[in-house]
Amino acid sequence: MDLQLSGQVAAIIGGASGIGLATARAFAAEGAPVALLDRNPDVATIAQQIGDEFGVSVLGRVLNVTSYEDVRDAAAAVEAKLGPVIHVVNTAAVGSGKGGFPFWNLEPGDWDFVLKVAVIGVVNTAHAFAERMRERQQGTFLFLGSVAGQIGSQTDPPYSAAKAALLNFTQCAAKDLAPYNIRVNILNPGMVNTPLQERVYAGQVAHLPEAERPSYQEWASEKIQRLIPLNRWQEPEDIADMIVFLASARAGSVTGQSVNVDGGWVMHW
Ligand SMILES: NC(=O)c1ccc[n+]([C@@H]2O[C@H](COP(=O)([O-])OP(=O)(O)OC[C@H]3O[C@@H](n4cnc5c(N)ncnc54)[C@H](O)[C@@H]3O)[C@@H](O)[C@H]2O)c1
Repeated sequence: MDLQLSGQVAAIIGGASGIGLATARAFAAEGAPVALLDRNPDVATIAQQIGDEFGVSVLGRVLNVTSYEDVRDAAAAVEAKLGPVIHVVNTAAVGSGKGGFPFWNLEPGDWDFVLKVAVIGVVNTAHAFAERMRERQQGTFLFLGSVAGQIGSQTDPPYSAAKAALLNFTQCAAKDLAPYNIRVNILNPGMVNTPLQERVYAGQVAHLPEAERPSYQEWASEKIQRLIPLNRWQEPEDIADMIVFLASARAGSVTGQSVNVDGGWVMHW
């Protein structure tokens, strides 16, 4: 399917790893120039590898999404090098690193940083890019939520709360930006095979005596079998495929929507 994204610049915040990296590759495979914006110091090298592989223009730039100045400056730098940004995807998020639930396993002070990256980071992204896109009356935003924000998943309370907040902000932003022909959606993955899940595992087994700790594979297999009807990991490419589709004109009437790519974990009715 030709998604007609060729030449349309995409900026991926959190693009150096996992879902963000797969998304950058998916846009590049469609012929879209891509900007990878990430706190990972290797982001420029990672971007160049994508440019070499797919023959598209790229930019890799270090940014901390919790800093509005960083995101605003990055937006200007991307447009100066690649041209007007049409698609913005924010995948950057962190957890508390502690096995949450009951919530008093955490200190109140554990919440601040998680909310700052996952919620304020998206707000910074929306402010920095929407201003430019409004003038052009064209574009899409895609934020990464999680099943954790929909069902009070017993993983990490501040992470779950942050993702729930994004669901609401997605709807507000979608209404605000619809008159400017800009679409805003949120995609909720379930269990995706990325470094983030290794950190969830580490947080959840840390309190167990070493002899009782399952291996990462054992922990993941049990959880997948118990929770995911399709009974398999989602791969980063599964998420990226939906993201490029939602960015494309094929999804031109889709805005303000919360879309799950989770192997059937959460079913709405
Ligand atoms: N992996 C999963 O199973 C899963 C499930 C549900 C939701 N999600 C969501 O998908 C998104 C991507 O997750 P992933 O699994 O690819 O994670 P990941 O850890 O592999 O990648 C996250 C990227 O964000 C970057 N990042 C983190 N903090 C940043 C900051 N302050 N500034 C700039 N960059 C920053 C990291 O450097 C990294 O490159 C996240 O929003 C996550 O909550 C993932």
